Amino acid sequence: MKALVLAGGKGTRLRPLTHTSAKQLVPVANKPVLYYGLESIAEAGITEVGVIVGDSAPEIRAAVGDGSAFGLDVTYLPQEAPLGLAHAVLIARDWLGDEDFVMFLGDNFVLGGITPLVEDFRAERPDARILLTRVPDPSAFGVVETDGRGRVLALEEKPRAPRTDLALVGIYLFTPAVHAAVRAIRPSARGELEITDAIQWLVDSGHDVRSTRITGYWKDTGNVADILEVNRSVLDRTAHRVEGFVDAGSELVGPVVLEPGARVIGSRVVGPAAIAAGAVVTRSQVGPYSSIARGVHIADSEIADSIVLEGARIDGVRRVEGSMIGREAVVTPAPAAPAAHRLVIGDHSTVEIRS
Ligand code: DAU
Repeated sequence: MKALVLAGGKGTRLRPLTHTSAKQLVPVANKPVLYYGLESIAEAGITEVGVIVGDSAPEIRAAVGDGSAFGLDVTYLPQEAPLGLAHAVLIARDWLGDEDFVMFLGDNFVLGGITPLVEDFRAERPDARILLTRVPDPSAFGVVETDGRGRVLALEEKPRAPRTDLALVGIYLFTPAVHAAVRAIRPSARGELEITDAIQWLVDSGHDVRSTRITGYWKDTGNVADILEVNRSVLDRTAHRVEGFVDAGSELVGPVVLEPGARVIGSRVVGPAAIAAGAVVTRSQVGPYSSIARGVHIADSEIADSIVLEGARIDGVRRVEGSMIGREAVVTPAPAAPAAHRLVIGDHSTVEIRS
């Protein structure tokens, strides 16, 4: 069995961060979302992984390499444009050969891995198996109707009037039957070859398409609120590990990950929180639920429920909450009570200020 991981696409809902970086590499507890997926594939005993890449290919390649760090053998499959999830299967045809495969959307996060799912699929081998979960806002997802035994009857991509609240999770198990389906369908109104249409084709042509309800934690990390939520849930499960430097004037409360080379000086860090190598926290309060990336400098500030990306600087700011701060960004107060705000902000940024 192989795995096809989708790490192309555009990431418009995560702008401006995704202007400069692939959305699958946005870090959660200081580790890219994509790594969690690759780890769960390796855990399930799959080693051959095809990674679909688009414009951000160089960055994905730099982050994943040949896959050996994960115990995987990675092949990159360039997609000329994000023409749809089924298009990704279409272009992966030769690499996939006639093997079964799990398709994993690189921006999806699932707690607890995929091992039992892969094992069940290997044992039962229906033509396809999809994963479903109940969501409050089904029209943001592929929506599925099933019979009482979990057999799939109908699927619709992001319907205005959803007929159920069962959303498609971005992990799919396929036999080679899917190849005829992705060849048979036509682009949708949004111009994409939809995997939901391909699965509907399988259903309509009499194939055995089953579903599994997942009850564990799952999230499509499509927007900032979702990323912060995943960050909280990962941090909630991290154990206290202090390998960096903490001076006598500092206090760590609750589970805190302090990587080697991180420094906490005259500060209070309230877990769960993660501070990466080379980050320096001075006279500040950090956490709970904060992930501070490598090389970040935080001084005379307070930050909670936030993700700060590599090399950013936060100086003299009380207090930052529910925020994502991009790479090398600088957040400081105005030198005096400002008559006007002075802002240098990238395209598609969101800034909330006292007006
Ligand atoms: O997350 C679950 C949802 O994922 C499902 O409920 C939907 O049925 C499914 O269509 C998909 O919806 P999204 O709108 O979230 O898909 P998105 O465009 O964000 O793409 C998902 C991943 O696949 C993302 O990592 C980018 C990558 N991708 C996407 C497209 C369209 C590609 O690599 N190539 C592509 O052509």
